[in-house]
Amino acid sequence: MLRRLHPEQPDTFAFTAANQQWAEAQITKYPEGRQASAVIPLLWRAQEQEGWLTRPAIESVADMLGMAYIRVLEVASFYFMFQLQPVGSVAHIQVCGTTSCMICGAEDLIAVCKDKIAAKPHVLSADGKLSWEEVECLGSCANAPMAQIGKDYYEDLTAESFGKIIDALAAGQVPTPGPQNGRYAAEPKSGLTSLTDHEAGKPQYNASVALATDLGDTVKRIDGTEVPILTPWLGKDGKAAATKSAPKPPKAPAPAKPAVKQAQEAKEAQPETLTAARDGKADDLKMLKGVGPKLEQTLNALGFYHFDQIAAWTPEQVAWVDSRLKFKGRIERDGWIEQAAKLAAGEETEFAKRAKKDGTYED
Ligand code: FES
Repeated sequence: MLRRLHPEQPDTFAFTAANQQWAEAQITKYPEGRQASAVIPLLWRAQEQEGWLTRPAIESVADMLGMAYIRVLEVASFYFMFQLQPVGSVAHIQVCGTTSCMICGAEDLIAVCKDKIAAKPHVLSADGKLSWEEVECLGSCANAPMAQIGKDYYEDLTAESFGKIIDALAAGQVPTPGPQNGRYAAEPKSGLTSLTDHEAGKPQYNASVALATDLGDTVKRIDGTEVPILTPWLGKDGKAAATKSAPKPPKAPAPAKPAVKQAQEAKEAQPETLTAARDGKADDLKMLKGVGPKLEQTLNALGFYHFDQIAAWTPEQVAWVDSRLKFKGRIERDGWIEQAAKLAAGEETEFAKRAKKDGTYED
């Protein structure tokens, strides 16, 4: 398979503040002159944040590590785990097509992907929410056929159960990972033949599924605030670099579905647009995370010049704007409405502060 940079690229990339701190901490693992050893973790975190590896992300990692761009591109294009093209805004689905899974029905699963997502791998679904690819053995052969969705494994699949999982993801739900046929883990389908004492009183989920449900980050983009940034190699208590890091936020009750979350399910409705900025003074829309010079031009061309216009978008209007942007799902993913509301009220956002300071924009 030919692996090269996607023809359409954003202008810039920036780690979130927490991811930047995490990345800088990773680099301290290696002795002076060996910082390049951190290339894979940094590329991986960039992908966890954005969903795929953009050229600006590759170059940004190269700059951080003092490496030539081509050296980092070599790494990114060599390992298939790095996605070099946009992936679904909700999830990228990796179906195992190797022997055990193939014998047990992987081809049926791929047919489901072709039917429900896109006829070809690495192509976004019509709504931009999902993408898929076939991958080699993921090491869960005893639970074949299986697929990795985001960070977690969905096992013992059938075309029917897999189809339901895809539908649920498209509807904004995250089905519980693990075996989908009632098996607890990888025990015989006919039931345990040994260690039967452990049957009674076992936890609800096997360890992998329990961790996945505890963390709840199956298809979440990682912004770096998920866990404290620990650097045990730097200090006795292992927290030398954690002093600057944000503490793990307490688990909040599930928030009400934000208006933008409903956008992808909503019908489109055109927002009110302007033919020019009020008083000839447009707001700097690049202060919104996810908006760079190109996207700002697009928004202006569509008739949006001010933060208060964006802050007022309804879910239907978000859907209208989203369908006219090159990379779908950004409005929701980057929280434009919340950011725009703050900026329109004269408040600052963390991203705007950073963008003003170092001129870092995103497209
Ligand atoms: S063959 Fe599919 S997980 Fe190993």
